[in-house]
Amino acid sequence: MTGSVHDYVEKYSLGVILRDNTLSEYNTFLKNLGEHTSLEKIAAEYVKRKGSCRILDIGCGNGQALHELKQHVSTLVHAIGIDLLPLHDARVLDEFIQGNVHDVPLPSECDIIVSFRALHEIGSLEQLLPRVTNALGKGGRAYLWIRFRKIVEGKIVFEGEMNEHEEKYLQTMASQRELGNCRVLVESVPLPIPGQAHHKPAYAAGYIIVMLRQ
Ligand SMILES: C[S@@+](CC[C@H](N)C(=O)[O-])C[C@H]1O[C@@H](n2cnc3c(N)ncnc32)[C@H](O)[C@@H]1O
Repeated sequence: MTGSVHDYVEKYSLGVILRDNTLSEYNTFLKNLGEHTSLEKIAAEYVKRKGSCRILDIGCGNGQALHELKQHVSTLVHAIGIDLLPLHDARVLDEFIQGNVHDVPLPSECDIIVSFRALHEIGSLEQLLPRVTNALGKGGRAYLWIRFRKIVEGKIVFEGEMNEHEEKYLQTMASQRELGNCRVLVESVPLPIPGQAHHKPAYAAGYIIVMLRQ
């Protein structure tokens, strides 16, 4: 286990940081990504069209959102989660892979992949994002949100494992608009700097990524 992964395991094992975002909160994240629909509607469309829907959550926490999704849509939604820590209740998901996402194989033929509030801790996006595109089945889509910077005691600092190299990689992907067999939309969300509301912010607080497998 690398130093940072060990630290995250320790931090989350204390149980003081939220790992239980609900479906409603995931839908708010989706809205922030510019998608004015809900995970229920997207999953229901796949079920209608294909007879099933495989959804993967990278850094799924306790699997709360996907558990609710299954209950709202149908048992034909196959929910898969990956996380460093075990689930509180193993029955909430159809499949759970415990481990560092960089060390485990990703499930294949996914219709939807989400990752919210986790990628800044996972890091090494250059290694991970091509694997995400490969894990999507034809017509599949991924919704990813990456926190990038925050202001601490008046100073702008990187979140978690983020750094200039990660940002350069995302900016290159934003200009190329494709990765592997996916069309990719990458947009930065500006960091509001106190007292500088009228200046064009030079820093990204985060990045939204939407991938569509052709
Ligand atoms: C802030 S929690 C968010 C959990 C969930 N997505 C939610 O919104 O409730 C971040 C999660 O990412 C997981 N995580 C961090 N680094 C990881 C890694 N390298 N591989 C797999 N999971 C990781 C943590 O264990 C934690 O459960």
